[in-house]
Amino acid sequence: MKFFIDTANLKEIQEAYELGVLDGVTTNPSLMAKEGITGKDNIMRHYKAICDIVDGDVSAEVVSVDLAGMIREGEELVEIDDKIVVKIPMTKEGVKALKYFSGKGIRTNCTLIFSAGQALLAAKAGATYVSPFVGRLDDISTDGIALIEQILTIYRNYGFETQVLAASIRHTMHVIQCAEVGADVMTGPLSVMEALLKHPLTDSGLEKFLADYAKGNS
Ligand code: E4P
Repeated sequence: MKFFIDTANLKEIQEAYELGVLDGVTTNPSLMAKEGITGKDNIMRHYKAICDIVDGDVSAEVVSVDLAGMIREGEELVEIDDKIVVKIPMTKEGVKALKYFSGKGIRTNCTLIFSAGQALLAAKAGATYVSPFVGRLDDISTDGIALIEQILTIYRNYGFETQVLAASIRHTMHVIQCAEVGADVMTGPLSVMEALLKHPLTDSGLEKFLADYAKGNS
């Protein structure tokens, strides 16, 4: 399973990269705003800074809602760096944009996926990735992991090459459950990646090993 970090924070991206397990980055307009990155030129520069840190795909989201705008923005975004994947919302215009970009060989990530039907449509339109939002479904008492599993089954049934990118990951159990059902990618915050390495028995075991070593070498 690939690990993407879901942030526009350069320091966190750098830290995840240094951990050695980072395969890419996802961003969205809210994450950009959270870092205080506003205005088209600053946003474009920030995408470039992200691409300079990571080896892997960097999702950059369009903010147009009409097809012509999505195409214009997407074509500008892919000029920034070869790592850019154009992130397109699941709307009627978005589906048309996915089809357009797939015809041009431009990679896409269809975002805001909350149902299997939406994921099927995105795959048929040639999306490179679909992003079902696991955490936001769980927030409304709907099983986000069950949706990941359902989409994987549908894609397997028909041999779709679209990758299932489990998004809106909130905690380590989401990551484990996504891995169990076979999600291609998960995207989450640095805190979730770091939480994966924690176990109290690892900490106490290491403490004892070091104490015993110190006794024998004092
Ligand atoms: C996906 O690419 C989105 O950026 C993201 O995962 C949304 O997560 P949230 O529900 O924590 O905002």
